[in-house]
Amino acid sequence: MSHRIAVVEGDGIGPEVIPEARKILEHFLTDADFFEVELGLAKWEKTGSACSPGDIRELKGADAIIFGAVTTPPDPDYRSVLLQIRHELDLYANLRPIRSLQSSGDGSSVDMMIVRENTEGLYSGIEEIGTERSTTLRVVTRTGSRRIAEKACSLVLERDRNHPLVIGYKGNVLKSDLLFRDTCQETAEAYGIKTQAVFIDALCLDVLQHPNKYDVIVTTNMFGDILSDVCGYLTGGLGMLPSANIGEKYAFFEPVHGSAPDIAGKGIANPVAAIRSAAMMLEYFGMKDEACLVEESISSLISRGISTPDLGGMASTSEFGSRLVDAVSKKE
Ligand code: IPM
Ligand code: MG
Repeated sequence: MSHRIAVVEGDGIGPEVIPEARKILEHFLTDADFFEVELGLAKWEKTGSACSPGDIRELKGADAIIFGAVTTPPDPDYRSVLLQIRHELDLYANLRPIRSLQSSGDGSSVDMMIVRENTEGLYSGIEEIGTERSTTLRVVTRTGSRRIAEKACSLVLERDRNHPLVIGYKGNVLKSDLLFRDTCQETAEAYGIKTQAVFIDALCLDVLQHPNKYDVIVTTNMFGDILSDVCGYLTGGLGMLPSANIGEKYAFFEPVHGSAPDIAGKGIANPVAAIRSAAMMLEYFGMKDEACLVEESISSLISRGISTPDLGGMASTSEFGSRLVDAVSKKE
């Protein structure tokens, strides 16, 4: 089956890392039809719109979207492109695997999955901005909590049902989180899955101290945002972490990192997070073996010292991407 894939490079390092992810997609999806969609701050500066209704229509015409990063200025009149897309395509599940590629010095490795609710919580977009008082409404619904809990439970069943599903929440202070916790617990019970509810602040420390205790963690939108950056510490930094934003109809793959304007244009950005996001797309298309091959090949390059400078290597962004395509081709 040939796939239609939308490619959004975006701002900052997006136009450097996405071509490397695309090399891998083109390698495996030989008859795919790729089309580019321009979105982000640079587009906003040129046209006054960072993501128009026409852009959303184009994205909806794709079987999957690979996305780099966009710069989101803290300007009250600028609407985050990412949030707009997640909302309009109803990409309710943000899956963020936290998996180390090489064993760290002491031989330990990390493998867990953060399942972040992606459409509500503090990212509801319902805000009143004033000069003396500003508010953001935190929305938790039973329907929203149930569907993300179901996604998390299906991942527990796929991965390791002996681990409890950990629910990251803050129900001692935010009573809206009691609805989230209870709905996750009810859903898990129906699947025969044990749960453990942990306060998110304590969880942020404990995942760093005891990462191997965790397998699947489900949490609300903003807590998932913060927890995934915290977990970057376990895996060599944000340059390593991919994500998939999945809904009923659409799928959108992006690195967890942002547009990193401070290093943009230097050819040193680590493309691994974007490439692993492409591997998640392959897995979404049912190409699990190919996705594993990409992961193994990244791992073997890094263990041979071939990496971008953030991991201690000397390779440029595009050298790493080309070496990876060679490595993948040799292993096939
Ligand atoms: C992420 C990012 C985004 C988020 C921003 C850029 C809107 O931090 O994907 O983690 O907060 O979700
Ligand atoms: Mg983030």
